[in-house]
Amino acid sequence: MSGQRTFTMIKPDAVQKGYTGAILNQITEAGFRIVAMKQTQMTTEDAQTFYAIHKERPFFGELVDYMTGGPIVAAILEKDNAVEDFRALIGATNPEDAAEGTIRKKYAESISANAIHGSDSDDNAQIESSFHFSGREMF
Ligand code: PPS
Repeated sequence: MSGQRTFTMIKPDAVQKGYTGAILNQITEAGFRIVAMKQTQMTTEDAQTFYAIHKERPFFGELVDYMTGGPIVAAILEKDNAVEDFRALIGATNPEDAAEGTIRKKYAESISANAIHGSDSDDNAQIESSFHFSGREMF
């Protein structure tokens, strides 16, 4: 059965451009409840650990540099079928392939600066949430 929670980061390009409010509004309008949220900046070690599964991919260095280049907004979100519904809301990894109205279609620059992250499984939602938040920060 699919889970109730997912994890997201509004990425540095979108935060820097002032899209945080509009993106959070779209997320809550879509029925997600904010369980935890903070603005923070990842260190190089943080990003290398968070994205360790991609360390052999050719874009890994670029991804780490990009994700550490400015503040992000990290959040845990709650809704039925959270992981799948949130992936649909944000759209394809490459904004050129993203459906009209999705967050990446509206706010992403490119495949490497694509505005927002969404967990790809219930297990990863749990791991990623615990990476950024303690139990005392979840409500
Ligand atoms: S996903 O989300 O796992 O289905 O997508 P995937 O294509 O496997 O990409 C994994 C993360 O790497 C980012 N990415 C890139 N960064 C820089 N350059 C290129 N070319 C590139 N391709 C993919 C992508 O945005 C994913 O980041 P997250 O934060 O998981 O969305």
